[in-house]
Amino acid sequence: MSRLTTVYACGDCGARSSGPLGRCPRCGAWGTVEPVLPGPGERRAAPTATAVRLGDVSDLGVARLPSGLDEVDRVLGGGWVAGAAVLIAGEPGIGKSTLLLQLADASARAGRRAVVVCGEESPGQVKLRAGRLFVSGAVELLRSTDAHAIADFLATEAPALVIVDSIQTLTTEDGAAPGSLTQVRDATALLAQAAKASGSTLVLIGHVTKQGAIAGPKVVEHIVDATLALESAAGFRVLRGIKNRFGAAGEVGVFEMTDGGLRPVANPSDAFLAERPSGVPGSVVVAALEGQRPLLVEVQALASASPYSAPRRVVQGLDPRRVDLVLAVLERRLDLPLTGLDVFVNVAGGLRLTDPGADLAVAAAVASAVTNRPLPEGTAVFGEVGLAGELRSVAQGARRAGEAVRAGHPQVVGPRGGGDAVTWSASRDLAGAFVTLWGRP
Ligand code: TYD
Ligand code: MG
Repeated sequence: MSRLTTVYACGDCGARSSGPLGRCPRCGAWGTVEPVLPGPGERRAAPTATAVRLGDVSDLGVARLPSGLDEVDRVLGGGWVAGAAVLIAGEPGIGKSTLLLQLADASARAGRRAVVVCGEESPGQVKLRAGRLFVSGAVELLRSTDAHAIADFLATEAPALVIVDSIQTLTTEDGAAPGSLTQVRDATALLAQAAKASGSTLVLIGHVTKQGAIAGPKVVEHIVDATLALESAAGFRVLRGIKNRFGAAGEVGVFEMTDGGLRPVANPSDAFLAERPSGVPGSVVVAALEGQRPLLVEVQALASASPYSAPRRVVQGLDPRRVDLVLAVLERRLDLPLTGLDVFVNVAGGLRLTDPGADLAVAAAVASAVTNRPLPEGTAVFGEVGLAGELRSVAQGARRAGEAVRAGHPQVVGPRGGGDAVTWSASRDLAGAFVTLWGRP
């Protein structure tokens, strides 16, 4: 049987007692013992937590508001969600403020109130940038770094979109250092809660350093509903979904920085392959999948005699462990001599691929580099490589092949399988794929 217990504690030394006392038995202070709420783990009158049947929970009805840029909608999973908090992280100068000002503009032009909280730049500086971008005069600016004031603003005004530039400038207490871990975390939690209550979409801009030291944004990631990273790749800006509570993560949007702000790139595959050298050994086009989007990207390999006793394996843009695995398979299953060679494997343009379907491209690029045989023109590959040297199927084969053909690579080599829409040369294993590519293993 539970019973209601009131706990008493001394306001000076914190000593607990079970009843009201005039004098604290521990520190001896008079009139300091007062009733306090039961602490965690202490018994209370009745359990206050109640469970609800899933079927009785009312639908959240996640309404999507188009952001105004299709590439951003794609990464968000369809548009802004009312009451959600979104973090946009990126290195200084990458274009976060520019992108968000464009999005504020789109919202205002659609008749939805957009407020930019300027912690970093003065309204005058923002106006200067806004002039270049032809931003609507209806976008509102709020000059404040006080998280409580901003939360109050959200509660009373409830604008459709609130953009905070940046989260590192906010404080929750007077005199606290902005940008410290606790300030960034507390300000985020406070504003995310306010947004949830007001139904505003909250966008927090967060800086990360070149070294990827994202102390601030890392703690913020756990609190927000979605995290997007703005990165630079092959001269373009890539917006990537890292986390998304309301949609699929891993989607990418591609932009170009112009005099008039960020412009969506219609055909990223063409853009990423624009500088690809033709007829060079070690260069392979992979029909990759980023999120749900098929993208053609160049994988490059170079092998050279190593001056070191332990040859180097230098990998950029891919998981080094996957590359190691592919190199081991090439050595053991295809007798490709790699001993004594430094091997470099790159995704061209500084892009990052997380797709296991890039394995075959790595294998073909390294084999091409070592044997000095370029791949035939107009070829794209995809497929995961297994330890036995087999080629394993990966998601969305037909869409990868379709994108390759569209972007001028009619010969597609990939794993077997793919249902009725088999539009590529299917191979059972690496050796078979190499025969297709070069006419011999
Ligand atoms: P900015 O949005 O200020 O980056 P961040 O907020 O991520 O620090 O943009 C930085 C760069 O973009 C800056 O060097 C100038 C350039 N830029 C353009 O090239 N075109 C434009 O229209 C604008 C507004 C900026
Ligand atoms: Mg900025």
